Amino acid sequence: MIGIIGAMDVEIELLKSDLDLEKKSERAQMVFYQGKLKGKEVVLVKSGIGKVNAAVCTQILVDDFSVDKVIFTGVAGAVDKKLDVGDIVISTDTIQHDVNSTVMGYELGEIAEMNKAKFIADQTLISLAKDAGEKLIEEGATIKVVTGRVLSGDQFIADDEKVEWLKETFGGYCAEMEGAAVGQACFLNDLPFVIIRSMSDKADGSADVDYSTFMEKAANRSYRIVEEMLDHI
Ligand code: ADE
Repeated sequence: MIGIIGAMDVEIELLKSDLDLEKKSERAQMVFYQGKLKGKEVVLVKSGIGKVNAAVCTQILVDDFSVDKVIFTGVAGAVDKKLDVGDIVISTDTIQHDVNSTVMGYELGEIAEMNKAKFIADQTLISLAKDAGEKLIEEGATIKVVTGRVLSGDQFIADDEKVEWLKETFGGYCAEMEGAAVGQACFLNDLPFVIIRSMSDKADGSADVDYSTFMEKAANRSYRIVEEMLDHI
C-alpha cells in the first residue's frame, strides 16, 4: 500500500479524480481515500498545512493503513537560485529549518537527543521520480527537474534574506512546510519516502502573489510526476 500525501486540496484533487475509490474514512479530521490509482493500491490524504499535521497524518498511514512507502506531492518556494516557478525538486533529504537547540550545543536543524537533522529519502523512489521528470520533459514540459535538499518549517518564506540564510545554512533547494515532518515520521517507522515539490514561487518579496498565481499549475506538475511514478512502482 502506497501512502500519498498533499497538504492542500489543490495538491491532491487531480489524483483524487483519477482514483478508483474503494473506501473513504476519517481520522484526526483528515479524510483518507483508499483505492486503486494506475492499478496500484494507494491511500490518498490531505494532511493540512504544517509539520504537526504532516507528522500525525504519516503516523495514521502507518498505523491504520499499513502503508509501506510514502510519497508527498505539492508546491514549494524555490531556495536555489537556478530554480524557476514550475521546476521540480525531488528530495534527497529533508531538514526542519526552524529547529533550533543551539544553546544546548546542537547544530541548527538538529533534533535534541535524537542527534539528527537530516532525514534521507529513499533512493528507489528518488530514481522513479527522476525518470518521471525526464518523461515529462521528453513530452515537452519546459522545466528543470533536480534532486536536492527540501527544507521544512512552520513558516511561509517570503523574504530574500531568509532565502539566502536557508541556502547558506542548510544548502536547501526549496522551502515548504511539511516534508521533513513526513521524513522524520518515516524514519521513526523505518519507511521509505520521497518528497516531490514543484516551485510555486521564489520565497521572496513577491512570494505571496506568485504563490496564489502559480500554485495550481505547480501542483499539477507534481501530480504528473506522481502518476508517472505509479506506472513503474
Ligand atoms: N509553499 C509554497 N511556497 C512556499 C513558501 N514560500 N514558503 C513555505 N512554504 C511554501
